[in-house]
Amino acid sequence: MYYPDDVIEEVRTRNDIVDVISQYVNLKKKGANYFGLCPFHNEKSPSFSVSGDKQMYYCFGCGAGGNVITFVMEYENYSFAEAVKLLADRAGITLPEITYSREARALSDLKNTLLEINRLAANYFYYQLKQPNGRIGYEYFKNRALADDTIKHFGLGYANKVSDDLYRYMRSKGYEDSILKETGLFFIEERGARDKFWNRVMFPILDVNNRVIGFGGRVMGDGEPKYLNSPETKLFDKSRNLYGLNFARTSRAGYILICEGYMDVIAMHQAGFTNAVASLGTAFTSQHALLLKRYANQVILTYDSDGAGTKAALRAIPILKEAGISVRVLNMKPYKDPDEFMKNLGKEEFQKRIDNAVNSFMFEISVIRSQYSMQDPESKTAFYNAAARKLLEFPEKLERDNYTEAVAREYMIPLEDLKRLVASLGGRFGTGVKPAQDEKTRIRPKKDKEDGIKKSQRLLLTWLIERPELLAKIDGIIGPEDFVDGLYQKVAGLVFEELRKGKVSPAQILNQFIEGEEQYREVAALFHASLSESLNNEEQKKAFSETVKKIKKNSLEVQSKKAADIAQLQKIIRQQSELATLQISLDGI
Ligand code: UTP
Ligand code: MN
Repeated sequence: MYYPDDVIEEVRTRNDIVDVISQYVNLKKKGANYFGLCPFHNEKSPSFSVSGDKQMYYCFGCGAGGNVITFVMEYENYSFAEAVKLLADRAGITLPEITYSREARALSDLKNTLLEINRLAANYFYYQLKQPNGRIGYEYFKNRALADDTIKHFGLGYANKVSDDLYRYMRSKGYEDSILKETGLFFIEERGARDKFWNRVMFPILDVNNRVIGFGGRVMGDGEPKYLNSPETKLFDKSRNLYGLNFARTSRAGYILICEGYMDVIAMHQAGFTNAVASLGTAFTSQHALLLKRYANQVILTYDSDGAGTKAALRAIPILKEAGISVRVLNMKPYKDPDEFMKNLGKEEFQKRIDNAVNSFMFEISVIRSQYSMQDPESKTAFYNAAARKLLEFPEKLERDNYTEAVAREYMIPLEDLKRLVASLGGRFGTGVKPAQDEKTRIRPKKDKEDGIKKSQRLLLTWLIERPELLAKIDGIIGPEDFVDGLYQKVAGLVFEELRKGKVSPAQILNQFIEGEEQYREVAALFHASLSESLNNEEQKKAFSETVKKIKKNSLEVQSKKAADIAQLQKIIRQQSELATLQISLDGI
């Protein structure tokens, strides 16, 4: 933690969540909660709820959830410390000096100095572009159809021909070689220092918080390498940053356009497609996908239309889908990339291409198709077989059928024939069971069971928070250790501990998970298992009892697998038989 826990707690409690969110979202009271349109995804009817009692928000549409601090983090795209600062200011609280460990402070100082130097360098390049010596750079951008506003918006610049110009500038500002070395902007050797970038037009790379973390520099004309990029530094992690995301994150178009290069992003933004980002020539990673997932759950790939671009798309598709993002692919032909497309056909045509972008599966099929000749019967048959095998990747029959239909229609294959082919290829795996179905019966139930148990655990925690008096009913029967998933166990531990002291504040518990980034969402969701299922009728009382038993049963199963000796196992077996006859009475609740 950057600040002591009690300070964070004070900041949180002095900022009522309903007041804060009302500044951003139009909320209407409905029962005990408030509802409005979710600011984190596109929707027409309100599924975003804010609870004054719990001091939490939750969206039933997209699953976004958290407390007042995470709301500010997500909405403003602030770090935890930045969000705490904003809320402290809002409530008139003076924050203490941030307390770091010594190493953490050293690293943070180093990073801040590197950011300072990068910022200075970006300003310097931008300034050079406007000087007589920088005319050549400015003309280059003009020839590439960039408006002055665009140049300013992206902070584009020019590194001049003097080979140690930036270095001398930084020394004049008092920076030592030891720190300049860490920036990636210089070659510093015994016999002297040189700038990495010279006689190139410059593209500062900003992170989502608009901080300059690196640069790309392009030769003006032909020459190798075409683009020179900052190396990875303490600030610059290529697999975790996307060029243009600082702007794209607020576009709220509901989807993100992914392209390959600097100029593509800039051309798209200039044309009004401010939701474009680039992975800058590096392969698209799952960290990129997770980063994107925070802003959109749909993307459209606008990679180059050449072989390399197609390959890059084929590689990115499964990574994005794995992160739960749905993918479409835009057809750029006959142009190479978005920049060229925009210059030749303009934004209206580009919008049409966006509207017509095909879903990633149909794109994959079209790539397979391009490898076969439809003139040659043998090759044509081979394509049908390849397409059928690809269709078998869908484990769900319904989905597979829908895609089979789409493929048949697109490639004018008689539907019944294609269906039969898919079925027969599926049946060739030994037992006559289709691999997809096999998978369905073997793997799915396990996953469903896990989900079911997690859901039970969520329900129980939500009930306990809403009705603390339930704790007495389950004391001695079930404890935090019976919540077998690591994260759930930690949350349960905190909930039980607070319950014993009196009342639980889920928003406070959430504080402990905010720095884990991806975790707090899951914890927030956990506290919202059931807003509707309160325990006021017999059926629900029975459900409570069943839920407790289900969690305990699962916990005992897990324990028995890990049991180290006979005595332990006997104890577990005894508990299992007790559980079978257990009755939890909710009389008086
Ligand atoms: P491209 O070669 O497709 O260039 O590289 P481009 O984006 O169309 O560039 P222009 O339009 O000729 O200016 C795509 C991206 O790959 C990275 C850059 O990020 C580039 O934008 N790249 C390419 C490099 O880092 N180094 C290179 O030498 C080439
Ligand atoms: Mn290009």
